[in-house]
Amino acid sequence: MKKGLSALLAACIGLSGAMGLAACRESEPIGDPGNVLVVYFSATGNTEQVANYIAEATGGDILELVPVEPYTADDLRWTDDNSRVVQEHENEELQNSVELVTVTPDGWENYDTVFLGYPIWWGIAAWPVNGFVTGNDFSGKTVIPFCTSSSSGIGESGDLLTDMAGTGEWLSGHRFRSSASQSDVVGWLETLGNFSGGDMGNAGGTVTPDPGDTDEEQPDGGYMPPPETGDGPAENAPTADIAVPTPDVRQTILLWNEGNIPAYNESYQAASADGLGFIPYIESFPAQGEVKGAVLICPGGAFQFRSTVSEGYNVAEELSARGYQCFVVSYRLRPYSQEVSALDLARAVRYVRANAEAYGINENDIAVVGFSAGGILCGELLLHSDGYQLPTESDPDYVPDSLDYVSAEASAIGHIYSFYGRLSVSDNNVETLRAGNLPPTFYAYGTRDPFYRQFIQNADAVREAGVEVEEHVFENVGHGFGAGNASCDWIPSFDTFLTNIFEEN
Ligand SMILES: Cc1cc2nc3c(=O)[nH]c(=O)nc-3n(C[C@H](O)[C@H](O)[C@H](O)COP(=O)(O)O)c2cc1C
Repeated sequence: MKKGLSALLAACIGLSGAMGLAACRESEPIGDPGNVLVVYFSATGNTEQVANYIAEATGGDILELVPVEPYTADDLRWTDDNSRVVQEHENEELQNSVELVTVTPDGWENYDTVFLGYPIWWGIAAWPVNGFVTGNDFSGKTVIPFCTSSSSGIGESGDLLTDMAGTGEWLSGHRFRSSASQSDVVGWLETLGNFSGGDMGNAGGTVTPDPGDTDEEQPDGGYMPPPETGDGPAENAPTADIAVPTPDVRQTILLWNEGNIPAYNESYQAASADGLGFIPYIESFPAQGEVKGAVLICPGGAFQFRSTVSEGYNVAEELSARGYQCFVVSYRLRPYSQEVSALDLARAVRYVRANAEAYGINENDIAVVGFSAGGILCGELLLHSDGYQLPTESDPDYVPDSLDYVSAEASAIGHIYSFYGRLSVSDNNVETLRAGNLPPTFYAYGTRDPFYRQFIQNADAVREAGVEVEEHVFENVGHGFGAGNASCDWIPSFDTFLTNIFEEN
């Protein structure tokens, strides 16, 4: 989870106070940088590119941190539980035992400023840099971390390295998008101070600091939080057409019957992160206390995976404690289209509505909330389906059952760092939005989100389309905050938003 800048600074101050050795401070112009060294680890070349730009612009020396056992493409398969990175991610000892070809750069004692670059892996610095950080004395040196990532911020990675080093003055550093340009890098260096040793002249001048600007061209479609598998469907879970709800006990319900899944495609299924044999399902989280309504929760993950825990279970736990029957939806992933994933969500809504009485709710008191791609999915359902659209419209071979004739409408939607549209692109066409006959829409997002501008534009367009909009914007907060924290505590407001809507239904 990312922290706001102030929290990061507070953490830095606390840390240096406690350690008395390494100091961490917010990046600000530094005086004479002296001799510059650029050290980096890069598994797929993105950080290397940034390191090269820095070395070129500063005239610094450069050292690549090369693991004795380099990472192969298979090693880097972060969706494969057995891959090297996943094994290491789960075992700190393994992380810290990645041996490097060179730990201490030649002439180490002569360098004054060290740029340290790494990719973000699961929200932290890729651990092959750990050996370099723990293996050297940074006393008297200024260390400037930089990283590349699909969309995560630099987060706590710099703090953790500062702590690990124990010596040196560490700046808070900077995160670049995976395909950062030379002008991104030079623009940042200019904010740091007097790096006149190299060629700063040809790269396009100063970049205006804007959290939305540098991230919009992400090649990989968005945030990539840690893969999370959740509990998976319970054995012998009933299917939605025959399930008997257990409103007081957690329950898994398969949305479709094997052999009758609309738009099923075996090769898509095999190629998706779920693999063959997957049947989309929901997991219920019983409401506590007086029941206010139901919320279907769609975790994000760029339609490549689902962040089932941080954007599913954690949210369900908080909302169910506030009186909502919650259902975490495990919808289909790429290469299925988002229209197909929306069939799964529609089926989930139908199941909850058909069983409204058993769940102790009014059948109109059903909301959907989605995170990132999960919000896009909720939008897909509400924008492009009239609620009574049969799955046979997508797949004439599908054999409908009585559940398919139940409305899949929702009376409220939450876009948590999300918008109406497609992956990475919001749909701000006021006429399309108006035609969608959308329910009241709740937005929660941070100013440091790569899609910050698009959220504003989308919310404005939705409002212009005559839809009730509630917007919560959190300063210095990025993407992927899930159930929130002190700097982006959106759930109480969402509760009030839903309570007001459901009370009027
Ligand atoms: C194992 C692994 C974990 C990753 N975790 C994240 C993450 O948590 N957040 C993110 O935005 N990107 C994540 N990424 C994407 C990389 O940070 C991004 O592609 C980076 O630019 C790669 O840099 P490199 O080419 O120098 O290795 C991850 C990539 C890998 C291989």
